[in-house]
This record gives sequence, structure tokens and C-alpha cells, in this order.
Amino acid sequence: MSTFEELIAANERVEPRDDMPDAYRATLVRQIAQHAHSEIIGMQPEGNWLTRAPSLRRKAILLAKVQDEAGHGLYLYAAAETLGVSREELLDALHAGRQKYSSIFNYPTLSWADIGAIGWLVDGAAIVNQVPLCRCSYGPYARAMVRVCKEESFHQRQGFELLHTLSHGTEAQHAMAQDAVDRWWWPSLMMFGPPDDASTHSAQSMEWGIKRFSNDTLRQRFVDMTVPQAEALGLTLPDPDLRWDEEAETWRHGEIDFTELFEVVKGNGPCNAQRLGHRVQAHEDGAWVREAAAAYARKQAEKGRA
Ligand code: 3HC
Repeated sequence: MSTFEELIAANERVEPRDDMPDAYRATLVRQIAQHAHSEIIGMQPEGNWLTRAPSLRRKAILLAKVQDEAGHGLYLYAAAETLGVSREELLDALHAGRQKYSSIFNYPTLSWADIGAIGWLVDGAAIVNQVPLCRCSYGPYARAMVRVCKEESFHQRQGFELLHTLSHGTEAQHAMAQDAVDRWWWPSLMMFGPPDDASTHSAQSMEWGIKRFSNDTLRQRFVDMTVPQAEALGLTLPDPDLRWDEEAETWRHGEIDFTELFEVVKGNGPCNAQRLGHRVQAHEDGAWVREAAAAYARKQAEKGRA
């Protein structure tokens, strides 16, 4: 049986029953839980527009996407449980503010165009961040990512198509799309985390094969992928310093205000209190479902023993 070090050195998967350092386990619990929490909280900004979608087709697409996000959360909680933590513990930690969710979901969705900007930018950023996680050293996390990434591609495409429709619609629709992109561009870049020189976990996570690329590397990959798409949309990105570097063959972007990221992560974003309050309320309102399911499971178990 290979040791943990041998598995990592051979770029092989670490599985739940393998010996692993406590710190490796703790890092995975932190990151997978935060990822799962992000999926669940991330349903709120888009859920806000389910009853106000402009057509049945758009409503059906958005409904499918929001349901996907719930499923992503469940896959990820299941992956976290293989590390010896329970879903209840993780949700208690989220509700008590001991665990986090992605900064990006603390911004409001002010118009229908925000649904397009979230799909195109936020899910686009998620794909760039999550594809390398399909090769994460921890087996259950990597395998959960394979299906998540396939569904994220649909999420990103529907957002792009929604924005393309608005951008090539009336003047007012074009302006609505541009306003949404203006508000979501910089927070989407912040999703990738602090700059590499301020990232507390990157070095160790990369050594353990949890993180395959640094925050700044993935952020740059996202910028290079997205700038040409903005041109195809006929929308501009709110960065006057954006310019093509012919020599490096990459898009140079303006300074990112990381103080905003740190403030939002600390709980001082536009919607932090509302998002967590809504989550806690939903959990409390759903207690009867959990109790009924547990009672039913006990009855089935008693029947099985009878
Ligand atoms: N939001 C909230 N917290 C963040 C953050 C963000 N955007 N970026 C970094 N942080 C936190 C880290 O959790 C860490 O917190 P800690 O000090 O309490 O441990 C601290 O800031 C330092 O950051 P690091 O770079 O050292 O942390 P990581 O190595 O964990 O890197 C990460 C951050 C890149 C987000 C990494 O955790 C990761 O890749 N996570 C998995 C993907 C994920 O969670 N994506 C979130 C969005 S989910 C989503 O997009 C769903 C889609 O359907 C829309």
C-alpha cells in the first residue's frame, strides 16, 4: 500500500481510506465545504429572478441551472463527508460564520441582464477554476468535479446567449447588458482569490496536488478567454487599462481592488447579511422535512429488523 507521500509524488489519487496528514484533510474539508456552501448560497442571486424571467424558455433554462447548483452542492457535501465530517456540522459552521462561501454571491442581481452576466462571467470563472480540480489529488473531490464542469458549460453558454440577445436588442436592452457586465466584471476576477503573494494556502495546496495552478494564473487564463468573448457580444469590459501584450500574447488588465475582496470576505459585502439570513431561515423552515425523512428511515429500519 503506497504511503501518502508516494501517492502524491506519483500524481495518483488519495482515497478516503488512505492514510493522509491531518493538515491535508483539514485543507480539503475547508475548501470542499466552502465550495459546497458557495453552490447552495449561489442559488439565491439567480433564484431572485425565477418568477420574473421574461419568457417561459428563459424561466425553464434558469430553473434548470438553479437546480444544477443545488445538485453541485450535494455532490460536494457528499465528497466532504468522505473526510469524516457530517453535512450537519458543515451547515452549522456556515450558519455560525465559521465557514465561508464565495465572495461573488454577496452582490445583488439588479436586472434580468445580471442573470446573463452571472452565467457568462461567474460560471465562466468557475469553469476555469474547476477544470483543474478534476485532477485534484483527492479522489472524491476530483470525481465530483467532472460532472460539475459538464453542467457549468451549459451554465456559461446560456449566460452568453442571454447577453448576446440583449446586447443586440433595443438600445435599452443593450444598456442593461452593459450595466450588468460593468457590475460583475471585477467581482468575477476577485473570485479567483487574493493575489499569489497574499495567498495563505496556495503553496501547500499546490504541493499536495489540490491546487494545480495559482490564483493569478487561473485569473489570467479567465481574462484571456473572456476578452474576445466580450468583443463577440458587442459589450465593453469596464477596464480602461485593458490592452493586448503582443510579446507575451496575453491581455494585461488594470489593478484589482483586493481590499474589496477582503471586505466582502469579512462580511462587509452588499448582500452578506441577507444571503446568510435567507440560508438560515430556509434551513429552519426545512427542519420538518429532515425530521420526517429521519422518522421514515427509522421505521424502515425497524421493519427490516422485525
Ligand atoms: N471568496 C471567499 N473566500 C475566499 C475567496 C473568495 N473568492 N478567495 C479566497 N478566499 C479565502 C480562502 O478560503 C482563504 O480563507 P482562510 O484564510 O479562511 O483559509 C483565504 O481567502 C486565502 O485565500 P487562498 O488563496 O489562500 O485560499 P485557497 O487556496 O483556498 O484559494 C480558492 C481560494 C481559489 C477559491 C480555492 O479555495 C478554490 O479553488 N476553491 C474551489 C472552487 C470554489 O470554491 N469556487 C467558488 C465558487 S463556486 C461557483 O462558482 C459555483 C458556480 O456554479 C457559479
